Amino acid sequence: MARNGVDIGKGSYGSVRLQDCGKIVIKYPLSPDERTKTLFKRECQILEPLDHPNIVKYLGIQDKDQKGEEKFGITMEYCERGDLEEVIFDPKMTYSMKWILSGASQLFDALAYLSERKLTHRDIKPSNIFLKEDFSLKLGDFGCVTLVADSTASGTFNRGTLRYLSPPQYDIAKENPNDDQRMISPKNDIYSLGLTLWEMVLRE
Ligand SMILES: Nc1ncnc2c1ncn2[C@@H]1O[C@H](COP(=O)(O)OP(=O)(O)OP(=O)(O)O)[C@@H](O)[C@H]1O
Ligand SMILES: [Mg+2]
Repeated sequence: MARNGVDIGKGSYGSVRLQDCGKIVIKYPLSPDERTKTLFKRECQILEPLDHPNIVKYLGIQDKDQKGEEKFGITMEYCERGDLEEVIFDPKMTYSMKWILSGASQLFDALAYLSERKLTHRDIKPSNIFLKEDFSLKLGDFGCVTLVADSTASGTFNRGTLRYLSPPQYDIAKENPNDDQRMISPKNDIYSLGLTLWEMVLRE
């Protein structure tokens, strides 16, 4: 059985810990200052109303840990098989083209759902896609999520990972690193997902 309090992942902004007998995880900011808390709250606000089988379910903000001590974090559903990057680079894992194509269909469906709500993920890559027990895929790590028409969007954590930016986004990022607005479009998510699928095929 999954154990409480076990760290299961770490990214650039948060560490992720199992809770509630492995039913949920809590993502704690690595630097829990006020700005970071505001950004985590914003992420949670945007995501709590979402309900899609291929998007990690966000469950809310937590202010205290189980001992009642002050500890700020975001709670969300647990994806038992970790992230897609681990699967791609694990030589012991074998998977078929059929599974890749089924994954593609699940993830594009999630992108269509986001785009209907004028949301863009902005950091799609294998380490931000998680696997459930039955090997279905869920889009996670919405730290860069942005409303397409949000004029306050600059100042989010970052603009995603350079390797997965679409060519026009990459050019803007190189020429004018502060121009967030021109980079916000669901089209870029399509590019990043395309590259992710290519990496699933190539496995290198
Ligand atoms: N709900 C979850 N279920 C299972 N594993 C998870 C979950 N959330 C996060 N993880 C694991 O923790 C890692 C880091 O989480 P996450 O990507 O959300 O953090 P981050 O700091 O925002 O990352 P990044 O460096 O991409 O910005 C993931 O790559 C994954 O391995
Ligand atoms: Mg991540």
